[in-house]
Order: sequence, then C-alpha cells, then structure tokens
Amino acid sequence: MPNVVVIGAQWGDEGKGKVVDLLTEHAQMVVRFQGGNNAGHTLVVGGQKTVLHLIPSGILHPGKTCVIGNGVVVDPAVLVGEIDALKARGFLKDDAQLLISDNAHVIFPWHKLLDSFREKARGGSAIGTTGRGIGPSYEDKVARRGIRMRDLLNPDRLRKRIEERLPQALEELKDLCAQAGADVPQLEVPQVLAEFSALGARLKPYVHDASLYLSEQVRRGARILFEGAQGTLLDVDHGTYPFVTSSNCVAGNAAVGSGLGPTAIDKVMGISKAYTTRVGGGPFPTELNDAIGEQLRKVGDEFGATTGRPRRCGWLDGVVLRYAARVNGLWGMALTKLDVLSGLKTLQICNAYDLDGQKITELPGDYEDLARVKPIYESMPGWDEKLAGVRTFDELPENAKRYVRRVEEVSGVPVVCVSVGADRGETVLLQNPFRAE
Ligand code: GDP
Ligand code: IMO
Ligand code: MG
Repeated sequence: MPNVVVIGAQWGDEGKGKVVDLLTEHAQMVVRFQGGNNAGHTLVVGGQKTVLHLIPSGILHPGKTCVIGNGVVVDPAVLVGEIDALKARGFLKDDAQLLISDNAHVIFPWHKLLDSFREKARGGSAIGTTGRGIGPSYEDKVARRGIRMRDLLNPDRLRKRIEERLPQALEELKDLCAQAGADVPQLEVPQVLAEFSALGARLKPYVHDASLYLSEQVRRGARILFEGAQGTLLDVDHGTYPFVTSSNCVAGNAAVGSGLGPTAIDKVMGISKAYTTRVGGGPFPTELNDAIGEQLRKVGDEFGATTGRPRRCGWLDGVVLRYAARVNGLWGMALTKLDVLSGLKTLQICNAYDLDGQKITELPGDYEDLARVKPIYESMPGWDEKLAGVRTFDELPENAKRYVRRVEEVSGVPVVCVSVGADRGETVLLQNPFRAE
C-alpha cells in the first residue's frame, strides 16, 4: 500500500492542510514529522474553518489516527489548547485518535523569549520568525540539552533538566534584555516545573513510542499520509539559508521525523500555489510590490494563519518548482488557489533568472545571488471566469488549462490536483496518490 508525503514546494502556506484533509479519506493515519506551531494549516469543510498548528490535518476525520512524530517540537500548552478546541466542537472524541511521540522535543518559555529577543537584536537583518520558540528548541535538541515529551512525565528528571537549562537560558536573556532595554523576565524553576508537570500529566494519555506504533502499522499494510510543514525553500539545509526555519522540511525528513525507514515512503506530492507567497525576510525573486501583488494578497486573503502578518506575493517561480522537484523527488504536484488568478489579463511565469547578465535556469545556492537575480518571465493570457464551481479539469477555461499544462512543463512534474477554492470540495483530484499504478 503506498505511503504518501505531502510537502510545500515553495515558502510555506501552499495549502498543505487543505490537501492533507482531502487525502485523509484514502489513508488510515496522518503524521506530522517536523516543525511546530510555527505552522498554520487551514481546513475548510462545509464553510467551517479550522486552523491547526500542531495536530495533523487528518483530525476532522473520525477513525483516522493522527501522529505527532519525534521530529516535531511541541509547545504543550498550545497542543492542549488545540485538543480542547477540537473536543469542544465534537472532534477527537476518542483519545486513541491522537498519538504524540515520547521523543518529541518540548518548547519552553525561554525558547520563545530567546526567539523574540534575538530577532530584536538582529534589527534590519531579522529573519522574521514566528516567535514561537522553534529555532531555540531545535538548537537545544542538537546541542543535546533538550527536554522531551518523555521527560514531562517524569517529575524528578524534569526538575533536574530545568535546573540545568534555565540558568543558562537566563544568562543569555539577561544580555539580550540589556541590549533591548527590557526587564529580564521572571522565570523560576518551581513555577516552570509546576506548569510543565501539569501539562505532562494532561498529555500523558497521548504520549507513546510513535516509531514502534507506525512500524507495526506499516507491517500491517496501513496507508500513511505524512504532512510536511513550512516548505522546501524554508528547509534548514535546502532553503534560502539563513532565511529559513530550523528543521528539514523536505520529504527525506518524513522518515527521520517519524521513526520509520526511508523504504516506508512511496510517493511525494508537492503543493504549490498558482502564484508565490512568502512570510518573513529573505530573497523572493518574483515578488510584486505593485497593484498586482496587492490584488493577489486581497483576493487570495494572504495573511498568515499563525501570526496574521501580510504575506509577500508574486508570480509563480518555475525555477523554485524545479528545485523543489529535485530535492524532494516529487511524484506529482497539487496546484492550489488557481481561482485567485481569475480576472488577471496577463499572467507571468518565471522560467529562468538573469544573474549579473547571465541566464541561469537553476536556483543559485547563495542567498545573496538569489537576492540579486532578475526573473525572466514568459507571459500567458489569463481568464475572467470564476473557478469556484469547477469540479473537473474539462470545466476549466481554456487559458486556465494552458496555464496548468505550462506549470507541468516548467516544473517537470505532473499536476495531479487542482484546487479552486478553500473548501474541501472545491478541488479537482486528477490522480489519487494512494492508488497503486
Ligand atoms: P498551509 O500552511 O500550507 O496549510 O496553508 P495555509 O492554511 O497557511 O494557507 C493557505 C490558505 O489558502 C488558507 O487560508 C486556505 O484556506 C486557502 N486555500 C487553500 N486552497 C485554496 C484554493 O484553492 N483557493 C483559495 N481561494 N483558497 C485556498
Ligand atoms: P506552514 O506550515 C510560512 C517562516 C517564518 C520565517 C521563517 C523562520 O503554515 O506553511 P520560524 O518561526 O520557523 O523560526 O521562522 O520561516 N515560517 C513559515 N512561513 N508558513 C509556515 O508554516 C512557516 N513556518 C515558519 O515566517 O520567515
Ligand atoms: Mg500555513
């Protein structure tokens, strides 16, 4: 039975949540394998909107298991809030529907404070992080001083770990606060210990050896959907470093971040908007700081699902999509928000860059080069028709069909899904990735 990874092919917010919710019907479980509550995944079902930050986007389907893998960094208070909000709406009736890896690392208050104060200290060269403590938590993990979900369930060990880590974090915070002219936050061991022990007790029923659980499911032939967060160009190795997040967002990490071997993965589906957006700092060659960029933001409602920040908007970048196809091994592409392009007379697709007078067709490795490139565009005629009612490829206006076909040619990846609205039903699924070929 095929297992499928869903990956953002751009800078995040491509519509991964929508596609995962749609595909969950064909899977038995959905696994988040990296990132944390920097993610904001939006699902709209029958007009009702749900935004998820940590719980996998399969949770609206009763009977489908949702797993938060070891590669995720968990803010336990946010997770409890998300669980409670879902339960209040009649979802997650059965606690067995949610599993959290005992090896997932925890975000503590000092991680969030360090994230925010470091950003302030960066001034004009700030990354524009979400301020959720993601980077500092992954740093502690790699530095081998992190605190994991399993530690929350063991008060003696938790006390020891907090006693070790909190004074070090406060030392750094003291310097950063002095620079910012701010008061040093009051954080004390007993208070943090009490808060996080209580959160641990609350989350205990969900904490398991997720790797063992998933490997048993693989052996039984279960179909697994892996849900990427962020996007390829935000990957800490393959993105526009240093303007990236602190985890690997590419498909290869689906195995590492869930505790399975790479042989458990069969197909990788990339998600791309029909144009491009980015939140936060860093290079963005096809960015439009004009009326068209403004129109995309307005019509596409391009405001962050996590921080509410306006997203930067621009034309589709084929160089980025080819790169995403390469580093993820994309099998197919879901093209979302095609409806947002309705009414634009002429559309532009970037298929190459001009770097200092030379035409290049691959993404430059250095972010300063990428910041300098000029996109080389090809123009295509647009369409006026609204697309929200379209349910088959044939119903698309001719110019929209041409646009989709050109995206396939430029990216080298077949478009297997076209999304024409935020609602689950506003989708044309051309090829089901769970169907064996
Ligand atoms: P994710 O982080 O990749 O899950 O994406 P977000 O939820 O952050 O952002 C995608 C936004 O676009 C959300 O508001 C979705 O409801 C919305 N959306 C997804 N697909 C479509 C589509 O085809 N058309 C329109 N108009 N909106 C869409
Ligand atoms: P989803 O899963 C868009 C961006 C931030 C910032 C950079 C680093 O909803 O697509 P971080 O807080 O991770 O240290 O911030 O990454 N970023 C996202 N942008 N969508 C996301 O998630 C993002 N998660 C992080 O804006 O530029
Ligand atoms: Mg998002």
